[in-house]
Amino acid sequence: MKFFIDTANVEDIIKANDMGIICGVTTNPSLIAKEGRNFTEVIKEIASIVDGPISGEVKATTIDAEGMIAEGREIAKIHPNMVVKIPMTAEGLKATKALSKEGIKVNVTLIFTANQALLAARAGAAYVSPFLGRLDDISTPGIDLIRTIAEIFDIYNIDTEIIAASVRNNIHITDCALAGADIATVPYGVLEQCIKHPLTDQGIAKFQKDYREVFGE
Ligand code: E4P
Repeated sequence: MKFFIDTANVEDIIKANDMGIICGVTTNPSLIAKEGRNFTEVIKEIASIVDGPISGEVKATTIDAEGMIAEGREIAKIHPNMVVKIPMTAEGLKATKALSKEGIKVNVTLIFTANQALLAARAGAAYVSPFLGRLDDISTPGIDLIRTIAEIFDIYNIDTEIIAASVRNNIHITDCALAGADIATVPYGVLEQCIKHPLTDQGIAKFQKDYREVFGE
């Protein structure tokens, strides 16, 4: 399983990229709004940092296929690594079909059932984004959805990649890897959680103490 970072915060993207753990970025309208910056400006900056797929979503207020197609073409022009993120609706599927036929990669987002994922893949999506955390929030095990999509894509040799999204904690990451997600898109705070372990910190402190006792600084 590969990692993308799920943020539009450039400082966090730089920190994760410097550690060599991420190979792509996902954003959404809420994450862009949180930064309060111009969409194209922030996406260009992100693309100059990370050499991998960067998902930029059509405006939340664009709901018709024609509008999504026009916006998707503009997003794709920002950088060759751009992936257009489109919501899972009938209009979104039409836009997915049109954009992917033009060679533009599409990430169909807001996937909450395996059938939605299968339809998105058939419409030409390069990626599907099932949201596991938001399913957990309504007492429905999100990880089951990731596992089911992976199983179906495997049976039919579908090469659409599964981006496990709405990843909220350390346990989600291991579960996604075991469930067959191709990618987990993860907020910086959760990546930090995965790096840290109290026994690692204690181990470092003990090594330092033992070393200093004999050799000093
Ligand atoms: C994925 O592409 C979305 O941007 C994101 O993972 C949503 O996460 P949330 O449910 O924590 O907002």
